[in-house]
Amino acid sequence: MTGAGEFPKGFLWGAATSAYQIEGSPLADGAGIGVWHRFAHTPGNTLGGATGDIACDHYRRWAGDIALMRELGLQAYRFSLAWPRIVPEGRGGINRAGIGFYDRLVDGLLGAGIEPVVTLYHWDMPAALDDRGGWLNPDSPGWFAEYAAAAFAALGDRVRWWATLNEPWVVMDAGYLFGVNAPGHRNRYEAPLVSHHMLLAHAEAVRLYRSRGQGGRIGIVVNLEPKDPATAGEEDRAAAARDDAYNNRYHLDPVFFGRYPDELPGIFGDAWPARVEDEAARIREPVDFVGVNYYTRRIVRHDPDAMLGWRPVPPPAGSATMATGWEVHPAGLARTLAELRARYGAVPIVITENGGAFPDPPSGPGDTLDDPLRVSCYREHLIALRGEMARGADVRGYFAWSLLDNFEWSSGYSLRFGLVHVDHETQRRTIKASGRYYREIIRTRGAALDWPVPAAG
Ligand code: FCB
Repeated sequence: MTGAGEFPKGFLWGAATSAYQIEGSPLADGAGIGVWHRFAHTPGNTLGGATGDIACDHYRRWAGDIALMRELGLQAYRFSLAWPRIVPEGRGGINRAGIGFYDRLVDGLLGAGIEPVVTLYHWDMPAALDDRGGWLNPDSPGWFAEYAAAAFAALGDRVRWWATLNEPWVVMDAGYLFGVNAPGHRNRYEAPLVSHHMLLAHAEAVRLYRSRGQGGRIGIVVNLEPKDPATAGEEDRAAAARDDAYNNRYHLDPVFFGRYPDELPGIFGDAWPARVEDEAARIREPVDFVGVNYYTRRIVRHDPDAMLGWRPVPPPAGSATMATGWEVHPAGLARTLAELRARYGAVPIVITENGGAFPDPPSGPGDTLDDPLRVSCYREHLIALRGEMARGADVRGYFAWSLLDNFEWSSGYSLRFGLVHVDHETQRRTIKASGRYYREIIRTRGAALDWPVPAAG
């Protein structure tokens, strides 16, 4: 029986991380250099020159981290494989020692009763492939398929949940258009090719996985943000609609319909390559689920001087915001799910990331850390999620971002997203109040959302 306030039985409760953000030891045991290693080691790219050299030292502390997951009552754990550990040169030789790490991790998780959910690509491509053009190279889908084949062969007997790409939009937008993520390009002509090759890579990996008959589920993870116009004016409304196509539909329309949104040629202008339209049909391939990463909504203003013709404006005065400046906007999660259903039909959804960075107090000598803003952030989003599920959203699981405070890309260690605080000097882990709250939610299958929020302390 499901009580009114409860999530369905079998709903997967988890937390998420990614390889470069937590593992450290990036070159250990024969791993190759990855694009994020190279990018972070290039002066000026990350806040204070931060790198993932140590990160959360999870590569060596993974067993303790599984014990932490048990303490949190997690039923599932989403993590990514570091492609450069598995195919150090990007092509050819598979590094057994690199696979060995994930082999032990998967066994450790299963031994602890925690379902592994594996992302193949969370942004760290082998640098050797970037040297050959990376995602700009039309051979890149084939490179990805070789890597995916190695991962399926090594782990597919135990891993039942696979995601091909994490947030291809961010790779395209931040990595190739605005240059703030690896590999740091700023080129309007490159961006559409990068997305196209990533999507072809995704589709090839899905076909490959199915051909192996391993019986698990495979999907893609996208970051979605509802768009609102800054004013009711026609230009702002048109800008919000274009941003919706660019951010929310760009990487899902090809997966579901085999074509790109009609707005894209207008957005990219002469940088939009006709070839991608001709080949888009090859991207259409049924997925078992769509992974949704949801953090915020975006308010958009028409601006002909901006790179794409619009720009985001700050949240309304008085809104709750995260340390990233993002508006805390739980209603947007419900709206995102409703819009997905309306456009793509009844595909199962997994919330593969949701959470927020907040300025946590420093962890004291004791074993608690109060993070009331994160507690209410999770609470409000989970209430919104439950409401939308009651209205028909078919959501199979929820993953908090993140298990641990970690390397937040170009922001380095300045933003803390963890349910567990990490002292980056000592690697000491402290479960935050949000972690304890999340444990209660999991234990009660959501009923604790209706109880008063536990007092601080
Ligand atoms: C998402 C990324 C994840 C993390 C969160 C805050 O875009 O997938 O790695 O950086 O944002």
